[in-house]
This record gives sequence, C-alpha cells and structure tokens, in this order.
Amino acid sequence: MQADATPVHELDPFSDETLTAPEAVQDAIRQTGPVVWLSRYGVWAMAGHGEVHAALNDWQTYSSASGAGLPNLKREKGWRSPSIILEVDPPDHTKTRLVLSRIMSPAALRTIRDAFQAEAEALVGRLIDMRRFDAATEIAQAYPLRVFPDALGLDGDGRENLLPIGDLNFNGFGPQNARFEASLAKAKPLLPWLAAKCGRGHLRAGSFGAQIYEAADRGDLTEDEAGLLMRTFLLAGIDTTVGGLGNAVHCLATHPGEWAKLTEGPALSRSAFEEALRFDSPVQIFFRTATRDTEVGTVLIHKDEKVLLMLGGANRDPARWERPGVFDIERKAAGHVAFGYGIHGCVGQMVARLEGELVLGEMAKRIRTLNLDGEPRRNLNNTLRSFASLPVVIEPK
Ligand code: HEM
Repeated sequence: MQADATPVHELDPFSDETLTAPEAVQDAIRQTGPVVWLSRYGVWAMAGHGEVHAALNDWQTYSSASGAGLPNLKREKGWRSPSIILEVDPPDHTKTRLVLSRIMSPAALRTIRDAFQAEAEALVGRLIDMRRFDAATEIAQAYPLRVFPDALGLDGDGRENLLPIGDLNFNGFGPQNARFEASLAKAKPLLPWLAAKCGRGHLRAGSFGAQIYEAADRGDLTEDEAGLLMRTFLLAGIDTTVGGLGNAVHCLATHPGEWAKLTEGPALSRSAFEEALRFDSPVQIFFRTATRDTEVGTVLIHKDEKVLLMLGGANRDPARWERPGVFDIERKAAGHVAFGYGIHGCVGQMVARLEGELVLGEMAKRIRTLNLDGEPRRNLNNTLRSFASLPVVIEPK
C-alpha cells in the first residue's frame, strides 16, 4: 500500500497516445516528483535524469534479476527464458558481460568498419537512384538487417524475421496488452527459425557469433549459454538500431537547418546521431525491481516493487539539458541515457554508433536535400520507438 502523501498518477505510458508522443507523460511524471506511483500498473516511475541515472548506477538496490520489463520474471513466465546478461545481477552478469565486452572490443570494431562503410556507400547509392522512398524500410531496416547479421556471421536466409521477433521482444518488456498479444501471434511461428540461428550452425570464422562459440570451447560459457548470448545479440542488436536510424533520419528531415549543417560538415554525423538518440530515444523505458525498501525523496519504495525508468524522459529533462526539446546536432549530447548506464549499459553501443555515423555521414556527403514526402507513421511498441513508414524525397548533390 502506498502512503497518502505518495504522488499518484493514472497516466498510461503504454497507451497509443503516449507511445505516439511520449513527452507529455514524461513531463507530467517529472514535474510531479522524483518518483511517482502509476496506479494502472502498480509500479513506480522516474523520468528525471538525476533519478534515472542514479537508479541505473545502483544495481544493488535496483535489480535486473526479476526482468528488465514490467513482468516479474521470478513470478511470471515470460514468452522466452530470461536473458543471461540483461536479466541477471552480478556475479552472474559479470561472467557473461565479460565475454560479450571482449568480443565487442575497439579492435573488433576496427575489423568491421570497412564492411560497414562499404554497405553505407552502397545503400546511399541505391537511395540516390530511387529519389523517393520509405526511409523506414529502405534505410532504417535495410542497413542493420544487412550489416549486423553479417557481423554475427549468419547467412542471408530469413533475416527479415528478425523484425517481428524484435518487435515482440520489446513489446514483452511492457504489459501483456493487445499490442503484445498481436506481436506474439505474428512472431511465434518464427521462433523455431530464431532457435536454429542461435546454434553453432555455419557461423563465419572470425565473426562475433563464432567468437561466442569459441568462448564456449574455452570453457568460459556452456554450449547453452552461447546459444542464449546469440539470441541476446539478435534480439538486442537489430530493432534498436532500426529505431535509432529511423528516428535520426526523421529528425534531420524535419529540421532543415540541422540537415544543412550536416551536409556542410559530414564529420558531424557522429554527433548528429548522438543528439537524435537523446532527442528521440529508441529504447524509451526499462524496468528495475527494488531489492530492499529504499527512500527516494519523501517516497518509500518497497522491496520487490517494480520501477519504470523513463530513459527517453531523462533525455528530455530540462534540469539536465538546456532547451531539451530542441534538436541541435552540435549539442554535447554525451551523458544521455539512451544506451542505459552502469553495469548493464549497452554492450553494443559502439556498433550502434558506428552504424549511425556511417549512414548519416554517407548521406550527408552525397545528398543535398532531405524532406518528408508524406505523413510518417510510427510503429507503436510498448518500449521501443521507431517508424513503420517514413516517406522521404531527396536530391543528390
Ligand atoms: C541505437 C541502438 C541501441 C540502443 C538505443 C540500445 C539501448 C540499450 C539500453 C538502454 C540498454 C540497457 C539495458 C538495461 O539497463 O537494462 C542496452 C543493453 C544492451 N544492449 Fe543495446 N542498444 C542499441 C544497440 C545494440 C546493439 C547493436 C547491440 C549488439 C551488438 C546491443 C546489445 C545490448 C546488450 C547485449 C545489452 C545488455 C547489456 C547488459 O545487460 O550488460 N545493443 N542497450
């Protein structure tokens, strides 16, 4: 039971309206207090940068072991078994994290850079041939679906399955509403395909996937754990960057002054992508579960209660950012929590940044104008923000 003085909201972070334009709910929660009780779901919510950042940095109090979503995985069975990196605390987390961080090292990134650059050049060549196209499918989906499974060492077969499976995964971090049920019905027939792709199969030598199984050969992981880490990569590494690229292209197409700056200085592509991640964060929320009674301001969060961390809200907090609602590609966006923070901070963030930098950079070098060519349509998902359709028209330089 919550005490009378507890700030309570009936707001719904998972309604179509909120998912279409989340800022009003983020602002309302932030303005009400450092932590607010959401009566519809029986969870706490934080939307201030200071609070979200502090919670992400305190895994001892804010645990991931009951799941990074709304369902409490210790009591409820999810649509999949828990992740052995995202949904565990130390010491279990430490072991799997080490394996993945070694694989995603700066040296590894240098090895994929040339291939990612060549794909970005080919992609922009195709865009220039088309002139009018849907940037949601032709850029945001096409590029990650090409480069990331390649880097993992997978063959080409069935890659498009990763999109509905990813949609299910990110809906699964929210309530089991109609949106979740619909994505489950769509993705369920594809799950045997996913399981097959997580196996040793015929992974290309030297790929990220092959290195996961080499860790198993060394005894750092069991064979089953290697399969689960492959699954984590496939679930975490596609839809997130699809969201990131699509949101970034949308920001640039709707802010002609910023697009002009980028075309004049394509080297700004990295900072443009970073600002887009802050301004329109692909992963809007994750949850934690309190391991003990803890006070935040005047509010007492009880042990085992879920806490919704609004990453997107923290990235728009006026106490942290000057003019947070302004998209400014020259802003120092470092410090945003779009990749999380602390021990679970995104292990693939350098890959995501590489994709953003190369695609936006190549576009800026060769495209003069970028404009909307129709009404964009969001893909509404319980936790991930992306576009179903983003019609644009371009003129080459
Ligand atoms: C723009 C793209 C991306 C965004 C916005 C993003 C966002 C995030 C966030 C917010 C977390 C923190 C989760 C938490 O604290 O509970 C996270 C963790 C993670 N991400 Fe990403 N991610 C992106 C791309 C990627 C890519 C490309 C990969 C794979 C190469 C990846 C793999 C992971 C993994 C494995 C974790 C779990 C890390 C852990 O629990 O220690 N992500 N990501």
